[in-house]
Amino acid sequence: MSVESFISQRCHAVDASGIRKVFDLGAKLTDPINLSIGQPDFDVPDAAKAAAIEAIRSGRNGYTLTQGIPELRARIEAALIDEFGPLGDARVLVTSGVSGGILLSLMALLNPGDEVVCLDPYFVIYKHAVRLLGGVPVFVDTYPDFRLHPDRIEAAITPRTKVLILASPSNPTGVVLSAEEMKQAADIAERHNLILISDEIYCQLSYDGTAPSGWREARHRTLLLRGFSKSAGMTGWRLGYAAGPRPLIEAMTKLQQYTFVCAPSMVQYAGLAAMDVDITVHVDEFRARRKFVHGALRDYYEIVRPGGGFYFFPKVPDGYASATAFVERAIENGLLIIPGNVFSERDTHFRISYAAEQSVLHRGCDVLRRLARP
Ligand SMILES: Cc1ncc(COP(=O)(O)O)c(C=O)c1O
Repeated sequence: MSVESFISQRCHAVDASGIRKVFDLGAKLTDPINLSIGQPDFDVPDAAKAAAIEAIRSGRNGYTLTQGIPELRARIEAALIDEFGPLGDARVLVTSGVSGGILLSLMALLNPGDEVVCLDPYFVIYKHAVRLLGGVPVFVDTYPDFRLHPDRIEAAITPRTKVLILASPSNPTGVVLSAEEMKQAADIAERHNLILISDEIYCQLSYDGTAPSGWREARHRTLLLRGFSKSAGMTGWRLGYAAGPRPLIEAMTKLQQYTFVCAPSMVQYAGLAAMDVDITVHVDEFRARRKFVHGALRDYYEIVRPGGGFYFFPKVPDGYASATAFVERAIENGLLIIPGNVFSERDTHFRISYAAEQSVLHRGCDVLRRLARP
């Protein structure tokens, strides 16, 4: 008997081979120049650590309310009211990371065959979560500028389209959509009766002013997803939140009850503390690194200057068969980066993360400049 034969078709619908190949190759390196990391290189703020420790010590170790501890929800609501004004009918759900919010929202929304429009390149979970749930991801190519192209989105919409999902600032491109683009996305959602999911996990990591939120325009049909992984360095702690129309949040809460149950208790107390921490020093540091990397590579690569997050998504130079081939060459030279096909239906670009120390960025950019002319 082979257990392999028991694995569901659903599971086979997910292909993780691209990224695995990179990690397998990277594992052979002794001192890699690692520009592949999708998490901040700063630690969780002390206030958040202290709050988690205090929560554990004082016995707050049980299940919490499914929707999250009242103190954290109240704090999130206060922040949202500050930013957007009265919440009206909107509700908040504390989730296990933004990933938890993505999965719950798609579970709550999709019937088999329903289509979800994703801007390509996309955050990798969207495609796989949609497929796991029997939905169909429909990719709208945004190359070469990675901006919102309303005409292309309109062309991808069919009677089965139910959701438009976008991330700004984006992973992997770092592009921040303008207020005008957010309005265009909301208008499309309105015109075609779609739910808009606005993934704003990088909203605090924005370097040319505040990143416009997708929750401003069509709030009655928009789900806002935000989290603590990138802004508070809490990737391993699994905390995020969803805010949106009451029926959707209620459906997600019901599903959370039978899946995640609740976000980890002590982490919710940590999140409450993290919300009061000023992260300006980290934002300034990332802005400086963006400048450095852009300056180092712009004469060597076709590259879009990102407005947020901590990624660049340059085009692979002519002469390489694919981004995968380019990344293999980079790894032979000690540099770990991610090929574009992990985030895209194309394999023409690669992702660099600048969540790495200056010395590592220097070494990485040196290798990339050498590889620019194959
Ligand atoms: C655009 C985007 N959304 C969501 C996530 C998932 O974040 P979390 O750690 O909160 O699940 C990531 C993480 O890389 C991301 O880049």
